[in-house]
Amino acid sequence: MTTTESQSVSDAVTAGSHATDIARSGAATFRTAGGGADEARVATVVGAALEGIRSAIREHKVTYEEFDAFKRWLISVSDTGEWPLFLDVYLEFEVEKVAAETQDGSVGTILGPFWLDGQAQLDSPATLPMRDDEPGTPMILAGQVTATDGTPLAGAKVDIWHTDDEGWYSGFAAKPPAGNLRGVVTCDDQGRYEIHTRRPAPYTIPLDGPTGQMTLAAGWSPWRPAHIHLLVTAPGHRTLTTQLFFTGDPYLGHDVASADKPELTLDPQPTGNGDEVRSDRDFVLEAEGDRIQDSTPIGQRSSTSEAQ
Ligand code: BEZ
Ligand code: FE
Repeated sequence: MTTTESQSVSDAVTAGSHATDIARSGAATFRTAGGGADEARVATVVGAALEGIRSAIREHKVTYEEFDAFKRWLISVSDTGEWPLFLDVYLEFEVEKVAAETQDGSVGTILGPFWLDGQAQLDSPATLPMRDDEPGTPMILAGQVTATDGTPLAGAKVDIWHTDDEGWYSGFAAKPPAGNLRGVVTCDDQGRYEIHTRRPAPYTIPLDGPTGQMTLAAGWSPWRPAHIHLLVTAPGHRTLTTQLFFTGDPYLGHDVASADKPELTLDPQPTGNGDEVRSDRDFVLEAEGDRIQDSTPIGQRSSTSEAQ
């Protein structure tokens, strides 16, 4: 695919309503226990958000025509089920940055709306489910999962999902079969994992729905750089939610979801086996108790164990 072609994840309504169902079910409970509704907190945060919008109205002299267009746009975000998509594109990265201030271990980034529960359970070394003629460059991703003190985390799990070589996610687009290029890989007794897959491709958010239409109307790029999503888990440790990107990707630094970080870039090298490439990446998980006991931002602690 060239950089001028557009590769949408799916048609907006199909992908959006599926992502909405997942968000509504609360299936992503690996992350938080959910927020409380303390009155002062609601007044502070909701008040600040509303004041941000009111100040934009005042500063930019928003007209009734624009206000009505905004109402119609919000209604269509609901109608297409695009709330998870819109929120994960334009707001999740800020929430993740706030969370990261008090987290140790490997660098994380956003989850996004395309994680699915109940995927193939595989032992390392593992090959992700794929079609017999799965297109794309064969790729091995391998490494070790340890605690912050270097102890290998035997039996840690690496939940991995990414697009195919054309930028399609299984479960959200008609083309790839269910479960394609998704799996949950159990590490060996040294916390090591090795996953055989295909290198993913850049893609755009759906362009036929309100999130993509607003993005295009503002003249912003709708592209995400190619990436691999990972959830790395081990009992007693905080789940690491992250993504891995690729050096040389034209969309690095221009991610519509603002989720790429320099620390998360892979530089796969040829293995000598045909056109196969390999990248090695270790993950460090912080113990659950560490975070609860010390809410000082990592950068302000007296001794900091450097995350990868
Ligand atoms: C993704 O990570 O794939 C993603 C994140 C936010 C919005 C859309 C997609
Ligand atoms: Fe993605």
